[in-house]
Amino acid sequence: MLEKFERYPLTFGPTHIEKLDRLSKHLGGKVEIYAKREDCNSGLAFGGNKLRKLEYIIPDAIASDADTLVSIGGVQSNHTRMVAAVAARIGMKCLLVQESWVPHEDAVYDRVGNILLSRIMGAEVHLVDESFDIGIRRSWEKALYEVKARGGIPYAIPAGASVHPYGGLGYVGFAEELRAQEKQLGFAFDFIVVCTVTGSTHAGMIVGFANDGRHRNVIGIDASATPSQTKAQVLDIAQNTAELVDLGMELVEDDVVLLEEYAYPCYGIPSPETKDAIRLSARLEGMIIDPVYEGKSMQGMIDLIQKSFFAKGSRVLFTHLGGAPAINGYGYTFRNG
Ligand SMILES: Cc1ncc(COP(=O)(O)O)c(C=O)c1O
Repeated sequence: MLEKFERYPLTFGPTHIEKLDRLSKHLGGKVEIYAKREDCNSGLAFGGNKLRKLEYIIPDAIASDADTLVSIGGVQSNHTRMVAAVAARIGMKCLLVQESWVPHEDAVYDRVGNILLSRIMGAEVHLVDESFDIGIRRSWEKALYEVKARGGIPYAIPAGASVHPYGGLGYVGFAEELRAQEKQLGFAFDFIVVCTVTGSTHAGMIVGFANDGRHRNVIGIDASATPSQTKAQVLDIAQNTAELVDLGMELVEDDVVLLEEYAYPCYGIPSPETKDAIRLSARLEGMIIDPVYEGKSMQGMIDLIQKSFFAKGSRVLFTHLGGAPAINGYGYTFRNG
């Protein structure tokens, strides 16, 4: 589906799939849980899902003659860390707008984890006091204008690399990669669990798995706490991506399965259940997940297993999309483990 699109390699290749035996057993052994380790997909600044997306965006950035990648996210955005890493790799400058998306108070929140790494990689970081919103932001448009005013040529990458014409392609590729891995494994996964916020990861998967009729088995766990906006954005990106890759099938609202009940109390703040899920994953599997994204999708998957949402014997694939560096901003939360 992606042959006609140029791809700039930023990842190691197909990501590893591992069985989470101890977690499966702990949860009653009714389903088999596997993880696809998108968090270990690259040597670029700890990797993560944004690199798959950026592989299809960067050729356009290079062709545009830009000299500065401009992007946006929260203070502990994984996405902006990835943009900073890619800018370093391709020899461009990088300007990042980091908004106060999370009402979280930790003495070192704006000095550790993702933002620390972005600064070390040479990105110019602008802290802006605006609250959470996955849409197009004035602060980001201002930053684009600022680069031009300085005589630079900006290339605009929206939050999460999502609302970009090519933002959904990377996770179409994920579906194709998984199908090839399933051939080797000798079985296919029944469900794919994904954390959803800005939407293009989930949207790309919907398009990619529509090819084998599994797109409604992609279970999105909302971590935005603004699920209507996120769901609309997933559908929009999925429809645009479907057209781009000539899917030949119309995608509708019911194709977006987005579960809303795990994002509380709000974006970026872990509930007691999210923290339990983080500890469980760490203590049973040594797999580190974060309080903003995969902590919530893990919490959701655990709850769904406990509620018998997945039929007995199902093979459930948890997509670990990265994000572990953000946990450094939650040192006080986890001060006792
Ligand atoms: C670690 C991690 N997991 C999940 C997501 C959600 O992906 P998306 O924004 O494409 O919905 C993000 C980014 O927002 C992320 O950084």
